Amino acid sequence: MASPRIWLAWRVGVFLAALAPLLFWSWQVANNAAGPEPGRYLLLNLGIGGLWMLLLTLSLTPLTKLTRWKGFALIRRQLGLWTLAYATLHLLSYALFILGLNWALLGSEIVKRPYIIVGMIALVGLAVLGATSNRWAMKRLGKRWKPLHKFSYAILGLVLLHFFWVVRADMQEWAMYAAIAALVMVTRLPPVARALPKLRYRFSSA
Ligand code: HEM
Repeated sequence: MASPRIWLAWRVGVFLAALAPLLFWSWQVANNAAGPEPGRYLLLNLGIGGLWMLLLTLSLTPLTKLTRWKGFALIRRQLGLWTLAYATLHLLSYALFILGLNWALLGSEIVKRPYIIVGMIALVGLAVLGATSNRWAMKRLGKRWKPLHKFSYAILGLVLLHFFWVVRADMQEWAMYAAIAALVMVTRLPPVARALPKLRYRFSSA
C-alpha cells in the first residue's frame, strides 16, 4: 500500500504534467516562436489539448479495471477538470483572437462556422459535469450521478464532430483521434468491461 504522501506526489505530478503544455505554448508565443498567427496557434493547440484531456479522462476507468491500480481513479476528477480548463481557454482564445472580443460578430460567425455551436454544446456539457464532480453534488444526485456523467461519451462524440467539421483537407489526424476514441468507447461496452479484470489475471499468471 502506497502512503498518502506518495499519492499526493502522484497527484501533484499529474497536475504539473497537465500544466506543462500550457506553459510551453505561452513560452512559444512570448518568444515569437508560434508562427505567423500566434492566436490561431493557441486556439488550435488548446482545442487538441482539450480533446487529449477528455480521452485520457475516459481511459482511466478501463485502465483501473485492467490494472486495479488505485492511482488512475485518484486523478479522474483532476483530468476531467483539466478538460474543462483547456476547453474554456480554447473558447477564450477564440473570443480574444478571432472575435477580438466583439461579441456582435458571433451571429455571423455561427452562420459561417456552424461547428461553433457543436463546440459550445460540448463546452456547456463539460461545465455541467465539472460543476457536479464534487462530493456534495455526488451525494445530492445519488443514483442519478452515474447516468449524468455518462454524458461524457456524448461530449466526446460532439468534440469529434466539431473537429471533423473544422478539418478541410488532411483527415489523417482526425482519423487518428477518432480511432483512439473508438478504442476507449469499446472498452466501455459491458462484455469488454467485464473481460478487462479477467485479462489482468491472465497476464499476471502468464
Ligand atoms: C464555445 C465553444 C467552442 C468554440 C467557439 C470553438 C471554436 C473553435 C475554432 C474557431 C476552431 C478552429 C477552426 C479553424 O481551424 O479555423 C476550433 C477547432 C478545434 N476545437 Fe473548438 N471550439 C469550442 C469548443 C471546443 C471544445 C469543448 C473542444 C474539446 C474539448 C474543442 C476542440 C477543438 C479541436 C480539437 C479543434 C481542431 C484543432 C486543429 O485543427 O488542430 N473545441 N474550435
